[in-house]
Amino acid sequence: MKALIPAAGMGTRFLPATKAVPKEMLLVVDRPVIQYVVEEGLASGADEVVIINSRDKKAIEDHFAPNPDLEATLRERGKDAYADAVRDTGNMPVSFVYQDEPLGLGHAVRCGAPKMDGEPFMVLLGDVIVPDNQMLVRMKQVSDEHGGASVIAVLPVPQEQVSRFGVIDGTQVSDDVWKVSGLVEKPPADEAPSNLTVFGRYLLSPRVMELLADVQPGVGGEIQLTDALEAVLAEEEMYALVIGPDDGYDTGTVESWLDTNNRLFARK
Ligand code: G1P
Repeated sequence: MKALIPAAGMGTRFLPATKAVPKEMLLVVDRPVIQYVVEEGLASGADEVVIINSRDKKAIEDHFAPNPDLEATLRERGKDAYADAVRDTGNMPVSFVYQDEPLGLGHAVRCGAPKMDGEPFMVLLGDVIVPDNQMLVRMKQVSDEHGGASVIAVLPVPQEQVSRFGVIDGTQVSDDVWKVSGLVEKPPADEAPSNLTVFGRYLLSPRVMELLADVQPGVGGEIQLTDALEAVLAEEEMYALVIGPDDGYDTGTVESWLDTNNRLFARK
């Protein structure tokens, strides 16, 4: 199975820091934020991580490319731990496709279609770090219990915040699992079907990728992944794993990025 990480965004909230450095390359404790997400995809059973990049964010590609000269220099100087870190980062099975127009998350995911071989796939949004790398592992268990159905992670939030997220409708089937009956992207708070919001970790059937080809621009004029998930419900079951506030650390704003640095540093 492959894991997709959309990474073509402009990083507006971090300007001017992200004028020359991609948002995904901002440091969190000891590595760029996207490296945590790549490592999570690999720890969750992905055999390859496909980053949906933009053409002017080459620093991400340089980060995951081998650098034998740097590695050799570090070894000559006896800095083997750093040499190992350079080697390991360059050896990760990461590949790149490009999203040339900012048409939305659904469009970004669809750009990965040629890499997917018609198989189930994971999507990991890069704004959150899952510190124990177990969320997608648990989602895979839920999928296996339900015949390979798509599974998404959802986080309960206060009702007044739901309009910032995708929101599910459904019925609870066990302690932390819901059967999804509908999804809506960024609904007004008083129209939201629940307070369970789409968190940014998805385990999806290949049919979602097919349906994305026909999704029309939705909220914000963007092609929404949520709309493809809503469409697939007419044909397939989908489940949601309810997670807690400490299962994922946000890095999407300067404040949450700083807070995540402190929390992850404290865990080391
Ligand atoms: C995206 C998804 C949304 C999800 C959110 C999680 O929205 O479209 O459904 O709840 O990520 O962060 P975005 O934050 O890109 O607007």
